Amino acid sequence: MNTLLKPFYAVIPLSLEELFAEELKKLGIEKFRVQKGGCWFGAEMNQMMKVNLWTRYASRILLKLSESPYRSEDDIYRQVKAIKWEQYFKSRNSIKVEVSARHSPLRSLNFATLRVKDAVCDYFTDQDGERPDVDKHNPDIQIYVHLNEKSCIVYLDTSGESLFKRGWREAKGEAPLKENLAAGLLGLAGWEPSIALQDPFCGSGTILIEAATIAANIAPGINRRFGFEKFVGFDSNAWQQMKKEARMAVNWDADVNISGSDISTLIVDRAGKNAELAGLGRWLSEGKLRFSACDAREVLPSSETPGLIVANPPYGEQSNPKSASVASMMKDVADNLKHHFAGWTVWMLTSDRMLPRQMRLSESRKIVFFNGPLECRFFRFNMTAGSNRRKEDTKTQDSVN
Ligand SMILES: C[S@@+](CC[C@H](N)C(=O)[O-])C[C@H]1O[C@@H](n2cnc3c(N)ncnc32)[C@H](O)[C@@H]1O
Repeated sequence: MNTLLKPFYAVIPLSLEELFAEELKKLGIEKFRVQKGGCWFGAEMNQMMKVNLWTRYASRILLKLSESPYRSEDDIYRQVKAIKWEQYFKSRNSIKVEVSARHSPLRSLNFATLRVKDAVCDYFTDQDGERPDVDKHNPDIQIYVHLNEKSCIVYLDTSGESLFKRGWREAKGEAPLKENLAAGLLGLAGWEPSIALQDPFCGSGTILIEAATIAANIAPGINRRFGFEKFVGFDSNAWQQMKKEARMAVNWDADVNISGSDISTLIVDRAGKNAELAGLGRWLSEGKLRFSACDAREVLPSSETPGLIVANPPYGEQSNPKSASVASMMKDVADNLKHHFAGWTVWMLTSDRMLPRQMRLSESRKIVFFNGPLECRFFRFNMTAGSNRRKEDTKTQDSVN
């Protein structure tokens, strides 16, 4: 038994758990247990840094510090105060505490949060007379506590900001897909860099930018900071070396065909700018990654060899035009696909379960997927000319898988 292995819990978007487990295997981590929305794994601290650097799917990696039964806030206080906090950070670091609960008997999560914060601060005050400050916006250290019916689990966040943030996006008033969800769509769709990829509703370009960074083997975390950088004992040399190796592993020679379009010229410009910010300028100028303004009802295939479309078209809850006109637009989009995209595989993410009906197509697969709080379906349509037309009204009810 390797005593250096520590218990970690990765928070994973629903449906992406198995993809994350594959990432762990590739990183040489053998001890893991997948569960709904997460994955437990045992790893050394350096392996944890590597997972943070390379995971495309996880939202956050937490280090488990303690687990104990509890019945009151005082039990939680005692449990948290018993942790040897100086092993993890210093009293001069700022902290933020978050408490989540499922079936907890406690009445107030706010009070529980306060008790956790008190326990950490009292611990340090007892030790060296100084206590950490609380910083709710930009803390050095984030402490997570999860309460279930009987036990309280205390975690330290190793990631810092959520891992979907790859460090390139400029804050803008738009609602793009999160990067780890975009990677998840590509993973679920089985996209490989050798397959032509097209997104006719590309918006700010998230799916395609993520695809290009996958193809170029750019580590998703290479341009951002992580929570573990503030930990006591953080191995800065090992981290610099890990990043150096990741930079050397970038492959600009990959032969890719990635193209996106959107009806809005303004948004297409933004997608191009985002791709530049993500460090993909080289592929933009080489034409391996392209963005153009085009109505999805008129778009043409980007490759003679059939490829893959992965997109999230607008849907009712999300934007104007209203659902009714989106429905009629999607029928026209489908007509265009039937006409020009024979042999292609089309994947669409939508919260609208009527999408196959609107498109007069039968899906060949359907995956439940959450875009934030919004329950969506990720539909696959095989564009085998004419053969997958929906038999009207023979399939009125979705069978959720
Ligand atoms: C849900 S957003 C896509 C978001 C994108 N995946 C991202 O991460 O930024 C839908 C996009 O479809 C575009 N759109 C709406 N109608 C369109 C049409 N007829 N043809 C092409 N694009 C359209 C909108 O401008 C919007 O950018």
